[in-house]
Amino acid sequence: MTEQAEQPFLYVVVCAAGIAAGVSKLISAAQERDWQVGVIATPVAMGGFFDVAAVEGQTGRPVRSAWRTPADPRPFPPPDAVVVAPATFNTVNKWAAGIADTLALGTLCEAAGTGLPIAVLPCVADALAAHPAYQDSLARLRGMGVRFGAAHTGEARPDGGRPEFAWERALDLL
Ligand SMILES: Cc1cc2nc3c(=O)[nH]c(=O)nc-3n(C[C@H](O)[C@H](O)[C@H](O)COP(=O)(O)O)c2cc1C
Repeated sequence: MTEQAEQPFLYVVVCAAGIAAGVSKLISAAQERDWQVGVIATPVAMGGFFDVAAVEGQTGRPVRSAWRTPADPRPFPPPDAVVVAPATFNTVNKWAAGIADTLALGTLCEAAGTGLPIAVLPCVADALAAHPAYQDSLARLRGMGVRFGAAHTGEARPDGGRPEFAWERALDLL
């Protein structure tokens, strides 16, 4: 067995939040911790939320977003763990409701059912996070064993600065 084949495989699910532009930080940190990384993005996230070509260069694999055809082989090995970062209001709610109409959501719904470690870093504005459906979704996913990082709003502080997004926290949660 090659050294590469012995490395655990991490799926990084990227949603369409503005902070997604920094996802390379998470990939680098995961690789430093000896994970192989494959990125699965939501279809909206593919539309300019992060540099897809740079991520493909960094991971050495295509970024997946569309379903494969039945005849196509699975392009990624099965995961040993899954990180969702950033996680949007939309994806958290759809995942908790069991909706699997994108590859990202299908992957998340399935992963939760296998008992794999799953860590989520939400990036959701306070006004959206106050929606009762979101609070119910968090409770439901936590009840399924999904691990959450601290709330992050993506919004600027009164002094104009922006709080850091704790990318590495996702790896600590696994
Ligand atoms: C520039 C921009 C930034 C956004 N940032 C966020 C965000 O931080 N969190 C969030 O929940 N939605 C954010 N949205 C809205 C989502 O992109 C939108 O709800 C989308 O449907 C999410 O799709 P997805 O969950 O499939 O990735 C943003 C939209 C735009 C245009």
